Formats: sequence, C-alpha cells, structure tokens
Amino acid sequence: MLSIGIIGTGNISRAHLHAYLQFPEEVQVVALADIEPGKAETARAEFALDGARVYEDATTMLASENLDLVSIATPPGTHCELSVQALEAGVHVIVEKPMAPSLEECDRMLEAQRRSGKLLSVIAQNRFRDDMAQLKAVLDSGRIGRIAHARIASAWWRGRAYYDLWWRGTWASEGGGPTLNHAIHHIDLALWLLGRPQAVAAMMTNAGHDNAEVEDLSVALLQYERGLAELTSSVVHHGEQQEIIVQGEHARIGQPWSVAAETARPNGFPETGGDAELVAELEALAAGHAPLEHTGHTGQLGDVIAAIREGRAPLVDGEAGKRAIELVTAIYAAAIERRTIDLPITAENPWYRSETLLERAPRFYEKTASVRSQEGEAIIGPTH
Ligand SMILES: NC(=O)c1ccc[n+]([C@@H]2O[C@H](COP(=O)([O-])OP(=O)(O)OC[C@H]3O[C@@H](n4cnc5c(N)ncnc54)[C@H](O)[C@@H]3O)[C@@H](O)[C@H]2O)c1
Repeated sequence: MLSIGIIGTGNISRAHLHAYLQFPEEVQVVALADIEPGKAETARAEFALDGARVYEDATTMLASENLDLVSIATPPGTHCELSVQALEAGVHVIVEKPMAPSLEECDRMLEAQRRSGKLLSVIAQNRFRDDMAQLKAVLDSGRIGRIAHARIASAWWRGRAYYDLWWRGTWASEGGGPTLNHAIHHIDLALWLLGRPQAVAAMMTNAGHDNAEVEDLSVALLQYERGLAELTSSVVHHGEQQEIIVQGEHARIGQPWSVAAETARPNGFPETGGDAELVAELEALAAGHAPLEHTGHTGQLGDVIAAIREGRAPLVDGEAGKRAIELVTAIYAAAIERRTIDLPITAENPWYRSETLLERAPRFYEKTASVRSQEGEAIIGPTH
C-alpha cells in the first residue's frame, strides 16, 4: 500500500483525490497540506479521508510522514521548490502542469529526480483520453504519410474575474497566460503526436483581460523538417472549440475524429470521392482503439502507481514536462523578440533562465484585484 500526500488542496487537488480513491487496494491518502488555514481540513472532510492528517506547510508534512508519493497541486511558481524538496525527502512526485515556468527550474527538478532515483511525472491528463489515444494510434500507424500541416486550437474562454485570483495574471506568480497554463495541454499533445519542431515564430496579445499583466492570446507557427503547424493558445474563444487537425501526405485526420483523403485527377485537381479505401482503413484503425480503463487524471495517476509497482518510468515523465516548457518558452521568446526562435533552447540561451521572461515580458495591463479564493466550481476541460 502506497502512502500518499497532497500538497495544495485547491481546485485541481479534487481530481487527484478522486483518482487516488479509484485505487483503494494500492494507495491510501494519509496527509494533506495547504498554506491556507482550514483548506486541507475541508478537502479531508469532503473526501471522507478520516485517518488523514492535515498540515499548513509541506515541509512539516514531508518531515512528519513516511510518504511514498505526493501530488503537488499548487500554483506553477511553487512547483520546482516543492518537487525538489519532496524528491530529496525520498518521495515520488506527481506535479501538476505546467512543470515550472522556466527551463532552468525544470532542469533542477530533473536533477533532483535523477539524484533521488525516485519517479517524477508531470500532469498531462489529456494523453489519457480515448479520442487523443485514438488519434495517436492512427498517426503512429504511418498510414497518412509524411506530415504537411497541423492546426492545433487550444481554445478556452475565461471571464475577467478569472484573473482576480491572487496568483493568476502576473508573470511572476502565474508565469504567463494561456500559452503556459492552458495550451500546455495541447503543446504536450503536439509534441507527443508530432515531435519537437525545429523553429518557432509567434505573436501574442491581451485581447480581453484588462486586469492581467499576461497575454490572453498567442498564435504560433511551428516549423518541422518539411511540415508546418499553427498553434492558437487562447482564453478569449467563445465556444471553446478545441481541435487538432493533422494533414498528411495521403490523408487528414483530426480530433474530434474526422478523416479525409484526396486523390488527384490527371491534371492534379482533386478527384471526386477521394481515396475511399484509405478512408475506410483509417476509420477501421480508429475504431480498433480499445477504450482506456481509466481516463484523465485517474488514467495518469493509475499509470504512475503501476510504474512504481513495476519499477519502470511513467508514461509522462519529467523530460516530457520540460519539452512542453521549452516550446512555451520559445513562443514567448519569439513573440517578445519578434523573431524566429530555434530549438532546442540550451542552458547558454538567456531564455533558459528564470529571470529573462520576467525582465522582458510586456505588462499588458496592471493586475487590479487579488482575492485569496473564489466561489464556484472550477471546470477542468472545455465546457462544450
Ligand atoms: N490539469 C489540469 O487540467 C489543471 C486544471 C486546473 C489547474 N491546474 C494546475 O494546478 C495547479 C493549481 O491550480 P488550482 O486551480 O488548483 O489552484 P488553486 O488556487 O485552486 O489551488 C492551489 C492551492 O495551493 C495552495 N498553496 C499555494 N502554495 C502552497 C505551498 N507552498 N504549499 C502548500 N499549499 C500551497 C493554495 O493555498 C491553494 O489552496 C496549477 O499549476 C494549475 O495550472 C491543472
């Protein structure tokens, strides 16, 4: 039985607690910590974790408990320090996305992971979705051929009050806007599905939130060996119509699931009806995807629990978390410097350091309010 601790008992900790409760034979949540007095106790009561102890700081919890695994569900700016602390205490770590606001911090976390020999997993729960897994399986079959183009719409909508929460809306405490905090899901998926691009161009703006320093919209172009991708990161999209469309040499596939395959007439124009045989084959590949036993956070936490049991790496490790941050960093660097950024971003590059973004990022607007907590349910994933 693995002893679990939770650090940060706000919105997303609910998804972790719910997930752990799906594996009662293998794990038990024994401790919860939150710096906000009473919050850990509220979570303990809500999930009826009767035997669990509550703490007002993670350091005391790590020193007092004999934990096997912690979930870190605190604001992004705290992820590095808390992860390193837990790993150094000999505890496996699952840390919420984004891994940390800078590559320098990601590397500190990876070094702590290697030194400790413990496991580090960064949340990317959308990989554990049937529609994404299906898209990945069809792409990996290679049947659509060389990738020419991808359109990735990480489209979210958030009202003005969203940025009134104390840690949101500043470069210092949130680390960025939707490029870092929302589109990180699609950025991880893009890297998982298409691999690492060679270069990035981008623009960003704040189109609708005059109470936040950070961007609320960015549009990036990613260059691959022969293909291009366009990535929109937004919290100003009514309808939150998210999609991934991949154009291959032979066919297009997409999430939500769609497929099309053109063939050429002698003059190069598209033939009516296209390649029906390939479309049928791709449909069959998609239909052949076996539904995942657990999805979302439950899927990822289940994988981490299995990885600990089997002594293997988790499906989403710290390196994957870092690669997503590298792409986010490249988007910010490209938008701020108004030039194309080549990948990888190595330790010699100023954009590797934590301070560079803070020094150079435009303050679009002043953050006008800073409330400690907000009423109402926080929704995970688009509402449509
Ligand atoms: N995977 C997802 O879909 C998803 C969705 C929402 C949020 N998140 C991520 O989860 C993290 C938390 O977001 P949230 O919406 O739950 O925020 P939240 O403000 O609701 O909760 C964060 C909690 O951490 C506590 N905290 C802050 N610093 C702490 C520290 N040093 N030690 C212990 N507790 C501390 C706060 O008091 C608060 O209760 C962020 O990184 C966010 O990006 C992920």
